[in-house]
Amino acid sequence: MKIVHISAECYPAAKAGGLADVVGSLPKYQNIAGHESSVIMPHYYTRFRNDNLFEQLFQGSAKIGRHDYPFKVFKLLQNPIGFELFSIEIPGLFDRERIYSYHDDTERFITFQVAALNWMKEWEILPEIVHCHDQHTGFVPFMIANIYEYGRLKEIPTVFTIHNGQYQGQFGFDRMHYLPPFHSFFTGLIEWDKAINPLASAIKCAWEVTTVSPSYMDEIGESMNGLEPLLRAERGKSKGILNGIDVEVWNPATDAMLEKNYTLKTVESGKKANKKWLCDQFNLDTKKPLFTFIGRLVGEKGADLLPEVIYQTLSQHHDKLNVLILGSGERHIEQALWDLEPQFKGNYCSYIGYNEKLSHVIYAGADFLLMPSRVEPCGLNQLYALRYGTVPVVRRTGGLRDTVTDIGDQGFGICHDQCVTWDIKQAIERAMNLYDAADEFKNIRKQIMQIDHSWNRAALEYIELYQTIKK
Ligand code: ADP
Ligand code: GLC
Repeated sequence: MKIVHISAECYPAAKAGGLADVVGSLPKYQNIAGHESSVIMPHYYTRFRNDNLFEQLFQGSAKIGRHDYPFKVFKLLQNPIGFELFSIEIPGLFDRERIYSYHDDTERFITFQVAALNWMKEWEILPEIVHCHDQHTGFVPFMIANIYEYGRLKEIPTVFTIHNGQYQGQFGFDRMHYLPPFHSFFTGLIEWDKAINPLASAIKCAWEVTTVSPSYMDEIGESMNGLEPLLRAERGKSKGILNGIDVEVWNPATDAMLEKNYTLKTVESGKKANKKWLCDQFNLDTKKPLFTFIGRLVGEKGADLLPEVIYQTLSQHHDKLNVLILGSGERHIEQALWDLEPQFKGNYCSYIGYNEKLSHVIYAGADFLLMPSRVEPCGLNQLYALRYGTVPVVRRTGGLRDTVTDIGDQGFGICHDQCVTWDIKQAIERAMNLYDAADEFKNIRKQIMQIDHSWNRAALEYIELYQTIKK
C-alpha cells in the first residue's frame, strides 16, 4: 500500500518531542512490513539540512491570501532512515531554525499544507492513504475532500492522528483568506466555537481519527479543551492505537550515544557505568538511587510541581537520593529548578535545554524516571526507560496507564493517581524502598528490558485500519 505521512516533525530531521519520534519510525516499520510509506515535512534550516544531501524534485507556488509563495520539494539522498523523506522549502516561512513558536505559525503551516497538496496533485501515482499528524496538518483532510483544485485527490482516504489535543491551532475568521477558496457551504467543516480550528476540522473531515493510546481516546471524550462533544460525536470512526518505539535507535546494546552499551546479561555493569558518567558530570553520588525527569517543562507534564516535590523530598530524605532534571519550557519552572541547586548541591542538578545525547545516557544511567503528567496522550519516555532498564514512576493517565503496571499489581513500575505534590512524593518514597530491596529491583530491571514495545505490532494495527477505508 502506498502511504504518505504529512507532519511538522520527523526524527532525525526535526524534533521538538515525541511526534518526531513517531513519524520518524512508524513509516520505517510499515516499509519493513512490505508497504511503501514516506513522509512529507517542511524543510527547516536545521543542522540536519546542512549535514545531508538533498535532490530537488519539484518546484511550484502556494497562494496564501495576497502572497504567492514559491516552494521547492526536496528528497533526502543517501537515506539511512528506512523511508523516503520529502521536505518542502518555503523561503520566508521555513528558512528558520526552530520548528514552532513564531508569530506567523498559522500562515507557515497552512502554506506548507497547500504546497504539499499542490505537489501531490501532480503525482503520476497517487497515494492510497494520506496520514496526517496533529493540528499543523489538520486542514489536509478538509482540503482534499472539499477544495475544487484538489479534485484529483478527492477520493484518497485520510487518517488523522491526535498526538496532542491541547494544541488546536485556532484562529479568527479574519484570516480565513489564508485557506484556498472553497464553497461557503463547507465553512462548518473548519469551524469550532466561532473560530477556525484545524484540529476540529481534521476530526470532522478525516475518514478515520486515531489517538496514540486507547486510554487517551477514552479521556478526551471527557476533557480536551472544548472539543469533547465533537470527539464523542465522531467516536464511531475513532480508535486508540498505542505508539511503538524504534528498537534500533533505542537499543542499549548498540546505542552509540551511551557511555557503555549493555544487554540483559550486562545490565548491572552497563547501567553502573552510565550512572557514573552522569554522577561525574553533575556532581551526584553513584550509591544513591538516581531519579530523573526528561521532557518539556510545562503544566501538561506536571513539571510545575517538580520544584516543590524536589524541595520536600530532598529536605526530608536529604542524603538518600539524587535527582537530575533534563528539560526546557516555561520560564518560571526553569527558574524554580535552577533556584533549588545551591540548597541541594551534591544531591540535585538540572540541565535546562535540549540535549539528545544526554537524554540517552540518562535513560541508561538513571534508576527511576519520573512522569507525573497531568495529560499524557501516549508518552515515549517511559517506553525508552523500560527498554533501558529504568523503572518508570508515573501518574495513571493516558498512555502511561496503558503501559505501566504498578508493582503492587504484579507489575514493574510505580503508579500514582493524582498529579499533586503529595502523591508524587509518596511514589518517590515507594521507589526508594524498591531500590533498597536490591534483588527485587534487579529482577524488575531485567523484566522491563524484555517488554516488547517495538512498532511491529502498532504498524500493523495502522495497516489494518487503512485497509478498512482503502478504495
Ligand atoms: P512529548 O512529545 O509530549 O514531549 P513524549 O514522551 O512523547 O513527550 O516524547 C518526548 C521525546 O522528546 C522523547 O524522545 C524525549 O527523550 C525527548 N525529549 C524531551 N525533552 C528533551 C530534552 N530536553 N532533551 C532531549 N530530549 C528530550
Ligand atoms: C505528543 C504527546 C505524547 C506522545 C507524542 C507522540 O507529543 O504529548 O504523549 O507520546 O505526542 O505520539
